[in-house]
Amino acid sequence: MSESSENFLHLVQPAVHQVRPYQPGKPIDELKRQYKVSYVSKMASNENPLGSSLKVATALFNFSNQMARYPDSAGHNLRERLASFLQVEMGQITLGNGSNELLELIARVFAGPGDEIIYSQYGFAVYPISAQLVGATAVEVPAVDYGHDLPAMLAAITPRTKLIYIANPNNPTGTLFRKAQWESFLAQVPENVIVVLDEAYLEYAEHACPDGSYPNGVDYFRDYPNLLVSRTFSKAYGLASLRVGYLLGCEEILGYINRLRQPFSVNAYAQVAAITALSDPQFVAKSLRTNQQGMVQLKAAVEAKGFKVIPSFANFLTIEFGEQALEIYDKLLREGVIVRPLANYGLANFLRVSIGNNHENSHFIGALSKVL
Ligand SMILES: Cc1ncc(COP(=O)(O)O)c(C=O)c1O
Repeated sequence: MSESSENFLHLVQPAVHQVRPYQPGKPIDELKRQYKVSYVSKMASNENPLGSSLKVATALFNFSNQMARYPDSAGHNLRERLASFLQVEMGQITLGNGSNELLELIARVFAGPGDEIIYSQYGFAVYPISAQLVGATAVEVPAVDYGHDLPAMLAAITPRTKLIYIANPNNPTGTLFRKAQWESFLAQVPENVIVVLDEAYLEYAEHACPDGSYPNGVDYFRDYPNLLVSRTFSKAYGLASLRVGYLLGCEEILGYINRLRQPFSVNAYAQVAAITALSDPQFVAKSLRTNQQGMVQLKAAVEAKGFKVIPSFANFLTIEFGEQALEIYDKLLREGVIVRPLANYGLANFLRVSIGNNHENSHFIGALSKVL
């Protein structure tokens, strides 16, 4: 039997055949090995350029004698803290190994072969992957101005539709819809279709919409039991490596999700870190200010070079570089700057750049000037 051939493919479940795995940003160490660059600015995974709160580091250090113990599988303390932070009931919260785990579990609970899952063109990659994983039919609705076309998504609902995934703001385009569009959409979705509102970038969007026009999912899930709201500590809270996210929804649905969840999917350090991160609003506020300043800095610099950007309400900027996009991506790597090519999203002429700190933004701008 040869090692590289597909000897076992015929044994693989049909759903697994069609899965196109998630493509993560290139890790810093890989770039160092590949191009022998000593200094790297990773602006490819929408991480927090300030790192995380120092209070979190202290809390983790103080907790470091607990490694031999299993975590609290119910995440009681974190859910209790979140419940008071968000003014919701503990039973309306389920924790996940990043929101990614929860997004996939929702598909496993509600959809299978023959069912349809709706999401937007340019929607987050995990939505089609979740549909593929459960063997459901992925229904991609064309975007408008790179964002969700909510009326068209409504029109795409059929008797087979089980789930609709929506990100606000969307990744990788950064686009946003406002309260009026959202409320009209939600009121028209049939009660037997589950809507997943993915708010991974909520904090940035609220900051960028001081007029209060951002529809915060907490204000809706109690009136719409078919609505699930996913959130993460990976972005504004800077805890991406620890993998912790949560879902808000009605107790019945969360009960089904919990049946599938691995008992210890959120480790104890992630739980401690998230609780502590919620107690450091200054860190989040600083992260949001840094992001806003960086967004202005990057947008001005790339527009001055004649490139168009998609207006973004998140912590990244998607830039249209035309046919040379991949070449620019490659040359930036050699300058020690990792950004994200978007060909797998059907945006081959674009690159997505996560907003960095001042130093990283300058590194990107300097490297871009050099490679053009
Ligand atoms: C729109 C969106 N949803 C969910 C996630 C998953 O985040 P995590 O699994 O780190 O919570 C991401 C990560 O980039 C994202 O962009």
